[in-house]
Amino acid sequence: MGVIGDLPFSMEEYRLRQDRFLSQNKEDTLVLIPTNSVQTRSNDTSYPFRANSYMLYLCGWSEPEAIFMGFQDSGSWKSCLFVRPRDTRAEIWEGRRVGIEGALEYWPIDEAYSIDDMDKIIQNKISNSNSISTIEGFNKELDILIKKSNLEIFDARDILDDLRVIKSEEEIKIMHDAAILASNAHIEAIKKTYPEIGEWEIQSVIESHFSANQSCPSYSSIVGGGDNATILHYNSNNMKISDGDLVLVDAGCEISGYASDITRTWPVNGKFSDAQKEIYNLVLDAEKAAIEACVVGSTWSSMHHASSKVLAKGLIDLGILECNLAEALGENFDGPYRNFFMHGTGHMLGLDVHDVGGGRQGDKGPERLLSPGMVLTIEPGLYFAGWRSDIEIPEKYSGIGIRIEDDVLVTDEGPVILTSSCPKEISEIESLVGEMIE
Ligand code: GLY
Ligand code: MN
Ligand code: MN
Repeated sequence: MGVIGDLPFSMEEYRLRQDRFLSQNKEDTLVLIPTNSVQTRSNDTSYPFRANSYMLYLCGWSEPEAIFMGFQDSGSWKSCLFVRPRDTRAEIWEGRRVGIEGALEYWPIDEAYSIDDMDKIIQNKISNSNSISTIEGFNKELDILIKKSNLEIFDARDILDDLRVIKSEEEIKIMHDAAILASNAHIEAIKKTYPEIGEWEIQSVIESHFSANQSCPSYSSIVGGGDNATILHYNSNNMKISDGDLVLVDAGCEISGYASDITRTWPVNGKFSDAQKEIYNLVLDAEKAAIEACVVGSTWSSMHHASSKVLAKGLIDLGILECNLAEALGENFDGPYRNFFMHGTGHMLGLDVHDVGGGRQGDKGPERLLSPGMVLTIEPGLYFAGWRSDIEIPEKYSGIGIRIEDDVLVTDEGPVILTSSCPKEISEIESLVGEMIE
């Protein structure tokens, strides 16, 4: 993206998204959707820029400091972009800009202006509007301008999130590509694993695979060996992994802004111990049960309930929980099984790795029902942290952390696992570990 004319979707697809969004606003509403700004990393250097997902969704604009504007003109909606104008001096340091003319010629918009003129032009549009639909918190200057207007303000996400949650065929194709690329990266990492390997070395195999394919991580890769796997957002990735330990790798990539998100757990010496096998198979059974629950019409939480029931029963069968199933689950799925499975079973996936639209419709609305075109992750896990002193863990399970995560597309024909090329059966994994080590 950012190469002139090289957008990930057809003009028709962007125009359709814009029409679906703009037509749900009142005709006297001014729509203003800002993108992100560049963030300082240290002194005068910046983090790599990544455009706001709403901007990418509406028009694929990937440069910073832009604003998408929608307004009604003679009964039809017009879409415009405020962009950074061409500037040779700035481009010498920061990279080439598309500019106003480039935006007009190659992007799915009707009008383009310099961001330097936004104050004047937006003030004028405000004076002809009765309300504003926007997303606050991304552009301070715009937020101030909007507040000063004293117009009624709507949160544009209330409409946009419902649109983004259902993926089009073009989006699903890109997400499938991202899923396959991340699967291949995991397979290469499994093949290159050996006892005493550094967590950072596995990270390097995975992320090299992404960059070699013009992709990048969609979130900070998690590579946790042994007890580190019990820290849910561990990403120090700086320890060696002992012979006999498992490694949990949660890593995904981004293609054209769309994320994949995979977790696999494997023994660095290529052989699961009996205790590791017991927990692994339990998590795998829970994952399969949750995937089966990803059917059209199910509530959002049905997949979490499915995995929770399998895990709670398994914890009882293994003697880790000493109670009956109802007690283990608790009245609201908040029983003692949550000591070992403390996160949700999945989240929506899309332009954001934790994509919009999960859980409830709106802040207090009813639970969302699964519909064709939704993509979500399924990722149950069990964690027996040797470093915790607040719960009792049988010694043989201490230091085991296992999560298995796939990306699942909901269809009328049932769940489709986009990451199905990434092996997860014990026999498959055992035969792959170390295959590329001489
Ligand atoms: N990688 C973050 C997650 O699985 O939610
Ligand atoms: Mn995830
Ligand atoms: Mn993940």
